[in-house]
Amino acid sequence: MQTVLITGAASGIGRDTARRFASAGWQCVLVDHNAQALGQLGASLPAPASAPHVLRCIDLTDATQVASLGEGMPALDAVLNNAGMSDASNTPLAEQGPAHTARLLALNLAAPAAVVDACARWLKPGARVVNVASGAGLHAIPWRGAYSPSKAGLIAQTRALARARPDWCVTVLCPGFVRTELVAGLIEAGRLKPEGALAKIPLGRMAAPEEMARALQFLASADAAPLHGQMLALNGGSSVYGGSQPLPAATLAPLPLDTPMELEVRGGDDRAWRAIAQPQPTAQPRYDARLDLSPLHAPAAGLLEAVHASAVRFAARHAQQASLTLLLPAVGVGRWQDAGDGAAARMLVATLACEWGSRALRINALEVQPSFDAQTLHSLLRYVCGAEAQFLTGQVLMCAGNAPEASR
Ligand code: NAI
Repeated sequence: MQTVLITGAASGIGRDTARRFASAGWQCVLVDHNAQALGQLGASLPAPASAPHVLRCIDLTDATQVASLGEGMPALDAVLNNAGMSDASNTPLAEQGPAHTARLLALNLAAPAAVVDACARWLKPGARVVNVASGAGLHAIPWRGAYSPSKAGLIAQTRALARARPDWCVTVLCPGFVRTELVAGLIEAGRLKPEGALAKIPLGRMAAPEEMARALQFLASADAAPLHGQMLALNGGSSVYGGSQPLPAATLAPLPLDTPMELEVRGGDDRAWRAIAQPQPTAQPRYDARLDLSPLHAPAAGLLEAVHASAVRFAARHAQQASLTLLLPAVGVGRWQDAGDGAAARMLVATLACEWGSRALRINALEVQPSFDAQTLHSLLRYVCGAEAQFLTGQVLMCAGNAPEASR
């Protein structure tokens, strides 16, 4: 049995995440300041007979309360710093004083570090720490107070922690729009117009909390090790979209997240990759996924062409609701004349994601070292290629050993 600590567990993403872990047999330490909602959640969860869930009613903006979190803590396999708040006051930043921003910064930026400090001695070797930041940490969202700065700070804090604790697996999830109470509150307050938000999301929809819960479950598992120090931007492609015209809304509802994947491996010897997806009985609905290895064998300055050729082949075969995942060689030191090719290939992945999104066609890439071990990437690829990650598109993920932030 494994144990996970989840902050902000009483609502939205945290609540769905707690349900997922509890259903998978984990012991959960659930932290929130909403005692009533926390109690209701705790009472509704299946609990392991040997180790009941632990409920901790704590205000995470109060440093003394956070420092006491370690008391009576069981040994932890993972910590998920999920609690966060936005600023719906509509007060321009230049009219805000430190008292206005203090609570938001305490919760979104100071608390994740304080929680890790308070729990560090209970974290098992190889433990996972996952911070929940936001797409708002990648692009400034005005008239939301210090929300964007706090989340940019959390992304940087994650990378710094990853460098400081190479013995853990430290990652950050950056959700895009998720239909939770937080987003409902912003819509109600007139701070968020859903149609305006959707027009900037290539996949043309918001995520369900369950999609974030699945990502957090993956990042909290030992299988996330290749992503140490990395960010998972799970936002329907909104972080890579730079166009000015409104994007079309999704025309298709996502498939159930448990839909088994039918994986086709192209562009190389598939033997090392077959175990990613087990063959399914033909009658069952499937999520079509292709893993294309051909960019790994591209000649110098030929990566852009290889990615394009792979995309053309994929689009000729799949019209909707499928995923293409590419393996790319890590950025190497080559001739300066060839340096643009790698960046162009990565931007091509993002551009294709924007063009394909409304049909729920996804494209992502994993960047790997020449000496990579296929086995260590199986679980990551199972997640990225499969139906669970239907809100993930346009991303290039660097795998262990490649991440400059993690290895610096
Ligand atoms: P939510 O508002 O539904 O849930 C937040 C939880 O944190 C609530 O249970 C609340 O009681 C708890 N909490 C708030 N202040 C607290 C405090 N001082 N002490 C202890 N607990 C406290 O939020 P949601 O949407 O589930 O968001 C979870 C995380 O995901 C947040 O960090 C948020 O910034 C981030 N996020 C959410 C997005 C969305 O579209 N919903 C998009 C991007 C990021």
